[in-house]
Amino acid sequence: MNIEFSKSMPRKSASPSALAFLSFEDTVLPPEAEEIDLALKDSIQNALQCVDFTPNIENLADLVAFSRHGPTRVILVGAGRKEPIDTLLLEKLAAHAYNAVQTSGLKTLEIRFPTSCPQEAAHIALGVHLASYRFDKYHTDLARHKKPGITQVRIIVKDVEGAKAAYQALAFLADAIFFTRDQVSEPANTLYPSEFSKRLTDLAVPGLEIEVLGTKQLADLRMNALLGVGQGSARETQLVVMRWQGASNDSQPIGLVGKGVCFDSGGLSLKNCKGMETMKVDMAGAATVASVIYLLALKKEKVNVVGILPLAENMPGGQAQRPGDIVASMSGKTIEIVDTDAEGRLMLSDALWYCRQRFNPVLMVDVATLTGATVALGQEYAAMFSSDNMMSEQLLEAAGQEGEQIWRLPLARKLQKKLESSVADLKNYDGPEGGAISAALFLEQFTDGCPWAHLDIADVAWNRSSPCPTTPAGATGFGVRTLSRFISNNYRKHNNGTI
Ligand code: BES
Ligand code: ZN
Ligand code: ZN
Repeated sequence: MNIEFSKSMPRKSASPSALAFLSFEDTVLPPEAEEIDLALKDSIQNALQCVDFTPNIENLADLVAFSRHGPTRVILVGAGRKEPIDTLLLEKLAAHAYNAVQTSGLKTLEIRFPTSCPQEAAHIALGVHLASYRFDKYHTDLARHKKPGITQVRIIVKDVEGAKAAYQALAFLADAIFFTRDQVSEPANTLYPSEFSKRLTDLAVPGLEIEVLGTKQLADLRMNALLGVGQGSARETQLVVMRWQGASNDSQPIGLVGKGVCFDSGGLSLKNCKGMETMKVDMAGAATVASVIYLLALKKEKVNVVGILPLAENMPGGQAQRPGDIVASMSGKTIEIVDTDAEGRLMLSDALWYCRQRFNPVLMVDVATLTGATVALGQEYAAMFSSDNMMSEQLLEAAGQEGEQIWRLPLARKLQKKLESSVADLKNYDGPEGGAISAALFLEQFTDGCPWAHLDIADVAWNRSSPCPTTPAGATGFGVRTLSRFISNNYRKHNNGTI
């Protein structure tokens, strides 16, 4: 799909296309309609008489208007009261318009929203771009009414060059989000650890370094907690290190760690079918971290970041780890495996420790589809835990600016006793009460005092329906926006060298 910015031009001929306008409570029919064709305006007014439309946000009137140029599909997108519209809402309104005509058979959508600045036009483009995501590579015969037909989206704006420039960075953001969505959507028979790491190696952005550690190197590093998770699978367990050094070599990096379970069957503590069918999503944390670093590299941000992605498949093969096993993690701490389905914390324990020891980061953020317990927050909020109030504030602020919702939960110290084992230093599971909290407390044991935050994205990485117009049902790409904004807001070096 091609997105272009263009100045408003009088229409000469109308090849069948769609026009989208914003509609407000006090001006249901917008002045932008007048600009193009008076006859069309009357026709929209006539068509409006046949529908019951109040221009509230989320409402939309899908009309056909007739003028001397022929029929035109007209989409009036409800925008509520006439108040300044922020860029996040503009993204959604534009996406709403696009979704209405995506599979209509029309090829062109022209968006004529009242934009005053190029930045707004760029966000309109981003909204459409994000809404256009499809993962239909495995359909061999897609029904016509399901095929996206829009190939051209034209956004009307005065300052065309300004809009193009503003869109550059946002197009990179969309690429990064699509990278996450693509990897998370990929089924586990095609995306297993070595395929995932190959795709990361193939990213080929100048300056982006990718290192892949295999089983032998992980054993040498004594990452037994990670290796234990993958030992029941026929696929090799790996750990990928991604580095972007946009700042001077001596500045400490930000550490990002992402859970990369390419499929979580539960292992010998096997899930039942209902809980298992969506478990290709369990590498979403790793995909998010990879995309954030990819994005920072595309944007050549002046910041040093390292991403640690432990990749494994949790399977119940003959070599599988057993409940009751005890593993010695890289940190030296021993862990009793009570439930092999609580595997994410095992992999992350070695990954966090490795990140801390090898790279001495200023802070670490891990992202993981870690626990079913986040069901408490629904599909609305990701859960956040943090040992550091400032980091936590910065993450909440970045999430708010990017339209992603996260909610801080407490690291309730009393639950620490749930980690105590009678046979080892820690155990990996002790029942469902406070499940997200005890998992976070477990991870904290491996941060070695480094300022740290943990995002549990189990319930937001995959949308069963499409609650937001810019996020089609399926893989969401949640977290890419928040984390990249968090880093750019707070840790990017400015040209004068300050942060
Ligand atoms: N991968 C799951 C968590 C998950 C749940 C991710 C739903 C995405 C959607 C995790 O490894 C897991 O199995 N957690 C269990 C552990 C327990 C049964 C030992 C949990 O928290 O319920
Ligand atoms: Zn599990
Ligand atoms: Zn899991």
